[in-house]
Amino acid sequence: MTISQKLFADCYDLLNQLVEWRIFSYRQNTAGQAAGLVLEIGFGTGSNLKYYPDSVEITALEPNPYMFKKILDRASKSNKDVTVIQGYGENIPFKDEAFDTVVVTLVLCMVSDVEKVVSEITRVLKPGGKFYFYEHVSSKSYVGMRFQSFLNPLWSFITTGCNLTRDIERIIKGAGFDEVKSRKFTIRFGTPISLPNVVGVATKIKNM
Ligand SMILES: C[S@@+](CC[C@H](N)C(=O)[O-])C[C@H]1O[C@@H](n2cnc3c(N)ncnc32)[C@H](O)[C@@H]1O
Repeated sequence: MTISQKLFADCYDLLNQLVEWRIFSYRQNTAGQAAGLVLEIGFGTGSNLKYYPDSVEITALEPNPYMFKKILDRASKSNKDVTVIQGYGENIPFKDEAFDTVVVTLVLCMVSDVEKVVSEITRVLKPGGKFYFYEHVSSKSYVGMRFQSFLNPLWSFITTGCNLTRDIERIIKGAGFDEVKSRKFTIRFGTPISLPNVVGVATKIKNM
């Protein structure tokens, strides 16, 4: 447990409120589509919780123990069935083919090894299972990429490890899913600075 983990957990909801009005529809496109046994990796304080259908059974995987109280408070006020497990997406503590759905929102920018996390997701998904993702990603334009690279060290320090420069869509598309449907778009917050994003769903091959 580190001071930066505590600070991040304490400030997350406050910071999130600044952007939530702009991103909630992507929570509907991801958590809102989940079915059956669901694993959410990097659960944070549980911002996706209210978007899950009541019928699902949620396992929340989260490395930061300072998030747990907030998750449990939120879960107790909802109708949702949530089990919280401490752990990392790079080493998911569940057997193969354990989940119908995996949900990841705004997490692959922070993990140490995106490829390993995506490979773990394919491992724990049942054949035909769905991986819903929503992430901010690297810019396609040269100027945008240069700006992100310039800003990244400071951004990463302030946010305790978030990266602006990851081509997450390419990594998911290269991970051997049967089908990946994704949409890239840019979010503007009324400033000249814009944030490229991707939202989508990947389906695991039925007979691997
Ligand atoms: C920006 S927050 C997003 C929280 C939430 N998913 C949301 O959409 O609001 C990123 C979360 O990922 C978690 N995280 C960081 N590294 C991780 C890893 N390697 N595996 C799983 N979760 C991780 C952080 O502790 C944090 O809770």
